Amino acid sequence: MAEPILDIRNLNKSFGALKATDNVSLDLRPGEIHALIGPNGAGKSTLIHQIAGSLRPGSGTIRFLGRDIGALGVPERTRLGLGRTFQISSLAPDYSALRNVMLAVQARQGTSFRFVKAVMRDRSLRDPALEALERVGLAERAHVSAAELSHGERRQLEIAIALALGSKAFLLDEPMAGMGPEGSKALTTFLDGLRAEAPILLVEHDMDAVFALADRISVLVYGRVIATGTVEEIRHNPDVRQAYLGEEG
Ligand SMILES: Nc1ncnc2c1ncn2[C@@H]1O[C@H](COP(=O)(O)OP(=O)(O)O)[C@@H](O)[C@H]1O
Ligand SMILES: [Mg+2]
Repeated sequence: MAEPILDIRNLNKSFGALKATDNVSLDLRPGEIHALIGPNGAGKSTLIHQIAGSLRPGSGTIRFLGRDIGALGVPERTRLGLGRTFQISSLAPDYSALRNVMLAVQARQGTSFRFVKAVMRDRSLRDPALEALERVGLAERAHVSAAELSHGERRQLEIAIALALGSKAFLLDEPMAGMGPEGSKALTTFLDGLRAEAPILLVEHDMDAVFALADRISVLVYGRVIATGTVEEIRHNPDVRQAYLGEEG
C-alpha cells in the first residue's frame, strides 16, 4: 500500500464540554478521493479546519508528505501543498478569473506590492495562472469576473487557485453546496479527473456525488469515525445505516 499523503492520528478537539473531534484517525492516499460524511454538527468542518491549520487540535498528530505539520500555520501548510477551498468563497468577485489566480500566484511568489496593471502584464504570473485555468477547464472563462461565473465555475476557480499554489492534496468542504443537479454533475466529473493531480479529502452531503466519486468513505458521527470503507462496505454497514443513512429512509 502506498504511503499516505496525509495521515491523521488520534486527533481530539473540544469546545468546552463538546467533543467536536473524538480520537479521529484517517489517511489520504495518492490518487484517491476519501469522502468524509456525517450529519450536520458531526464535526466535519472542524476536522478540515484542524488539517488546514485554521484551528488547533487539543491533541493528536497530522502528518503531511511524511512531515508533522501540527505546529505550522495556514500559510506554511499552503506552501507545503495543502490546498483547500472554503465553504464561503474567498474570491475577489470584481476581478476576472485570471486575475484571481494571478494574485494567488503572486502571493505564493511572495513578491511585494505592485500595481495591478504591472501584475497583469507579468508573464511569470500570467503563464502559470493561465495553465491552472486550463487544467480545470476554465481557460475560456479567464476574462469573466468571478461574480459572473456560475457557482460550479467558482468552485473550479478556487481549485485552479489551489493548483496554482502547488497543491499536492485538496481539502474540499461541501463543494456541491448550493448547486443544482446539473452543476453537481459537472463538478463530479471535474473532481473525478482532479484526483489524478492530487488526492482529495471531500466533505459532501450530496450522496450521489459521494457514491460516484469516493474510493473510500469515512463516516463521522458526534466527532467520532464510526466506519471507514469502500462505497459498498459503507452502504451495507449496519451502524452507518442506523446512525446516518437511515435518516434518509
Ligand atoms: N468555534 C466553535 N466554538 C464552539 N463550538 C463549535 C465551534 N465550531 C464548531 N462548533 C460545534 O462543533 C460541532 C461540530 O461542528 P462542525 O464541525 O461545523 O460540524 P459539521 O461540519 O459536520 O456540520 C457542532 O456542534 C458545532 O456547533
Ligand atoms: Mg460543515
